[in-house]
Amino acid sequence: MASTPPVILILGSGPNIGQHVARAFAAKGYKVALASRSLKEEDSNADQVHISADLSDPHSVKGIFSKVKASLGLPSVVVYNGEHVPHGSLLSKSTDTLEASAGAPNNPADPLSIPLADFSRDLHVNTTSAFVAAQQAALSFDRLPDHRSKTFIYTGNILNETTIASLLDGGVGKSATAHIMRSAAAAYSDKGFKYAFPSLPLAVLKLTKRRFYYADERKADGTPAYSKISGEAHGKFYVELAEHKSQGPWQQTFVKDVGYRHFPAA
Ligand SMILES: NC(=O)c1ccc[n+]([C@@H]2O[C@H](COP(=O)([O-])OP(=O)(O)OC[C@H]3O[C@@H](n4cnc5c(N)ncnc54)[C@H](OP(=O)(O)O)[C@@H]3O)[C@@H](O)[C@H]2O)c1
Repeated sequence: MASTPPVILILGSGPNIGQHVARAFAAKGYKVALASRSLKEEDSNADQVHISADLSDPHSVKGIFSKVKASLGLPSVVVYNGEHVPHGSLLSKSTDTLEASAGAPNNPADPLSIPLADFSRDLHVNTTSAFVAAQQAALSFDRLPDHRSKTFIYTGNILNETTIASLLDGGVGKSATAHIMRSAAAAYSDKGFKYAFPSLPLAVLKLTKRRFYYADERKADGTPAYSKISGEAHGKFYVELAEHKSQGPWQQTFVKDVGYRHFPAA
């Protein structure tokens, strides 16, 4: 009997990283589910499902996974790429800053002036919904056969390591989710299970493997890629991460055309 194709779910899928990651995985035989606010469900086809969703509501994330399961099957790769972006701002991405994709920047001289509603919305998009997505992904991974990838990738940036005065809430969200990815990678990798349950047989360890990554594209000198981020490089690199046989470093700083590069903390 022919096996069913693997499924990737990309949350926060837009014209750059989202589309390129979708293309790279489709080329590997994956069916693709995309979720963002502006997608129209009627544009779905047999290979690609579009889900209209707002990640500022963490309670909506479970429903996204239900729709993917009903239409394509359980996802074995989940990419969380959502970050609060006012509709349309990506189209004017021209400056060498992270601001082009980090929503409205705050006053750098007065970061505590961010309205609570904005701070809370951005924290939901950057962290709380990513946490729920990781929970749902882990449940999905547990029900998939061993040969599936079982990989969760969160698109990050350098803000988990440093501050940018105008991007307080973006940095809070990236830092918090980096912590979640680091904790999950340690706990749920083969090594984590071996540590918690030293007597588990190898077969059980294989069944429980799940991988979690915080991916961050950098320039070759370790500085942020900023507006030069490459959707194509993300697609290629995320496929490589999904094909890893075991959990690599949770923090995947990478350089276009090079791959993983470790940099000293910023
Ligand atoms: N390494 C670096 O230096 C660097 C630099 C810039 C950005 N980044 C990272 O790259 C990621 C963004 O990449 P990109 O600019 O190429 O994005 P993209 O894949 O082109 O699109 C991201 C999409 O997220 C969706 N989104 C935003 N808010 C949402 C919400 N509330 N609910 C659902 N979807 C939402 C938007 O679509 P809708 O409008 O349709 O909702 C947007 O098109 C971010 O995680 C960011 O941190 C890294």
